[in-house]
Amino acid sequence: SERTLVLVKPDGVQRGLVGEVISRIERKGLTLAALELRSVERAVAEQHYAEHDGKPFFESLLEFITGGAVVALVVEGPRAISAFRQLAGGTDPVDKATPGTIRGDFGLEVQYNLVHGSDSPESAEREIKIWFPNL
Ligand code: GTP
Ligand code: MG
Repeated sequence: SERTLVLVKPDGVQRGLVGEVISRIERKGLTLAALELRSVERAVAEQHYAEHDGKPFFESLLEFITGGAVVALVVEGPRAISAFRQLAGGTDPVDKATPGTIRGDFGLEVQYNLVHGSDSPESAEREIKIWFPNL
């Protein structure tokens, strides 16, 4: 079994899609190992998205992620990392995510794409430490 770090981003929380996202995770057969509604300090956002430091959208991404509460989850199950990435859909909700995915069903703009999911075992381990240091 594998663990992945999932975020319902501020747009997902503001739009009332937390239940929808959790429901899809549970219906897939994945389980919740941790769940917290929290505001995001800039330092946490910088660590979380460190790989994007220097990109043209980095500042805007930090402002977005720190702009409202997020729901952080640790999701567990066989191939949880890939399984959640598949549920989320591609990064761009229109060009890449297909209908039937979270982003494909609910998103329109690349920055406001509702959810985050770790992209590799190394990322998952690093991100779980950032969001749930006591886990
Ligand atoms: P995450 O699960 O959030 O990491 O998304 P991802 O892995 O599908 O995409 P990536 O890590 O490449 O980008 C991180 C986040 O930055 C995306 O989810 C978007 O919210 C945002 N982002 C990515 N590319 C762009 C872009 O070209 N413009 C803007 N404004 N935001 C972007
Ligand atoms: Mg990513």
